[in-house]
Amino acid sequence: MKHETVCGLDIGTTKTCAVVAVEGPNGLEIVGVGEAPSLGMRKGVVVDLEETIKSIEAATEKAERMAGLHVGDVYVGITGDHIRSTNNRAVVATSNEDREVSHVDVRRVIDASKIINLPADRQIIHALPRYFTVDGQEGVEDPVGMAGGRLEVDTHIITGGTTFITNVLKCVHRAGLEAAGLVFEPLASSAATLMSEEKQVGVVLLDIGGGTTDIAVYSLGSAIFTATIPVGGNILTNDISLGLKTSLAEAEDVKKQYGAGVAEDGEQTFSVHGLDGRTTKEVTTQQLRQIVVPRVLETLRMCKQKIVENVPRDLVLGEVVITGGGSLLPGLSPIAEDVFGLPTRVGIPTTVSGLTDAMSQPQYATAIGLVLFGANGEMEESNGHRRGGGTIVTKIRNWFADLWN
Ligand SMILES: Nc1ncnc2c1ncn2[C@@H]1O[C@H](COP(=O)(O)OP(=O)(O)OP(=O)(O)O)[C@@H](O)[C@H]1O
Ligand SMILES: [Mg+2]
Repeated sequence: MKHETVCGLDIGTTKTCAVVAVEGPNGLEIVGVGEAPSLGMRKGVVVDLEETIKSIEAATEKAERMAGLHVGDVYVGITGDHIRSTNNRAVVATSNEDREVSHVDVRRVIDASKIINLPADRQIIHALPRYFTVDGQEGVEDPVGMAGGRLEVDTHIITGGTTFITNVLKCVHRAGLEAAGLVFEPLASSAATLMSEEKQVGVVLLDIGGGTTDIAVYSLGSAIFTATIPVGGNILTNDISLGLKTSLAEAEDVKKQYGAGVAEDGEQTFSVHGLDGRTTKEVTTQQLRQIVVPRVLETLRMCKQKIVENVPRDLVLGEVVITGGGSLLPGLSPIAEDVFGLPTRVGIPTTVSGLTDAMSQPQYATAIGLVLFGANGEMEESNGHRRGGGTIVTKIRNWFADLWN
C-alpha cells in the first residue's frame, strides 16, 4: 500500500524545522524531523536568501534521512508583520434545481467571500469558513445536503504581503522543494496544541517565537481573529545582555535558567561574566526580574490589546495557551494569567503519533501543526497551489475534502 507523505516546513527566526509524516494505520504518523539554525530570517521575513536556502536544505536533508523518504512538496509556514486578517460574509443562491446545498455551492460561496478590497501587493493566504447560514438559519457547520435556496458563509480571511510571500517561496524552490500550500503559523501551532473542545469554548493561542509572537483566537470551533506582533523571546535575551552587561550567549543561558526571576524559595544569586568575558559579577533574581518582567508584560499587553480591539466584547474565552520556544520561559504562565485574567497553560504538541520526547516541545508546535494542517485540508488555496485529493486523514470533514478539487 502506498503511504501518502505530508511534510511541513517552519522557517523560523531562530531555527528551521522540517517534519515528514505518513498516513499510517492509525492516522498521521511522524517519521522524520530535521532542524537547522536559521540565520536568514528576521521577525518572520527573509533578510538573506542564501542563508535561508541553506537552512531549509539542512533541515530537510536531516528529516529525509531520518524518514528514509524524499521530500518534494511541503506545507510552508508564513508569518510576519505583513499579515492582516479580517472577517467577511458572502451569499450565493444554491444552484441545484431541488434547492439542496451542494459541494459546488460551498466552494462558490467561499470563493465569493474572497472578494475583498485587496491592494495589488497583497494576497489571500486563507479563507477559513467559520459557519454557514442556510435560508437564514445561522451556525451551520456543514451545509452540504441541507435544503435551502440561499447559502451564506462567514469566513476568516488572512492576507499577506506578496513580496514577503514570494521571497519565502523563492527560498523553498531554490532548496529544491515545492510549496504544497502556505499556512499562517499560529493556525499550524493551534492544530498541534489545541483540543477541539478548547476551540469550541473559546481560547487564545499565543506562539512566542524568537522574533515574532503570533496570535490566534478561536470561538465556536473556528478561528475568528489572527494577528502577529514583531516581538518574540529574543528581545528578552537582548534586554538581559544589555541590563547585566554580559554576552548574548550568556544572557540566553540566564534567561533559560532563571526566566522571569520569580524565585519560589526566596531570592537567589548567580554570577555572570562581564562583556570582557573575564570578570564576573553577582546578580540577584530581583535584578533579573526588573529587566525581564516589564518586557514580558509589554509583549503580553500588546497581544491583549490587539485581541480586545478586534474581537466582539461579549466573546467568551476560557483560557490562554502559550506555545513556541518563548513559552518555556520560567515564570511566564502566572504573568500571562494576570494580564489576561484567564487560566494559562503551555501548549505542547500532542495531537499526532510518532512524536519523540525531543519533539514534544512547544518550539516544534508550528512544524508539527503544518503537517496536521496540510493533511486535514483545513486550508484554502494559496498562491495557485492547491492540493488534489484530500484523502489522507479519515477524520477529515467531507466538505473540506471537496474544497480542494
Ligand atoms: N527554556 C527557555 N526559556 C526561555 N526562552 C526560551 C527557552 N527555550 C527557547 N527559548 C526562546 O524561544 C525563542 C525561539 O522560539 P522558537 O523556536 O519557537 O522560534 P522561531 O520559530 O525560530 O521564531 P519565530 O516564530 O519568531 O519566527 C528564542 O527567543 C529562545 O531564546
Ligand atoms: Mg516560530
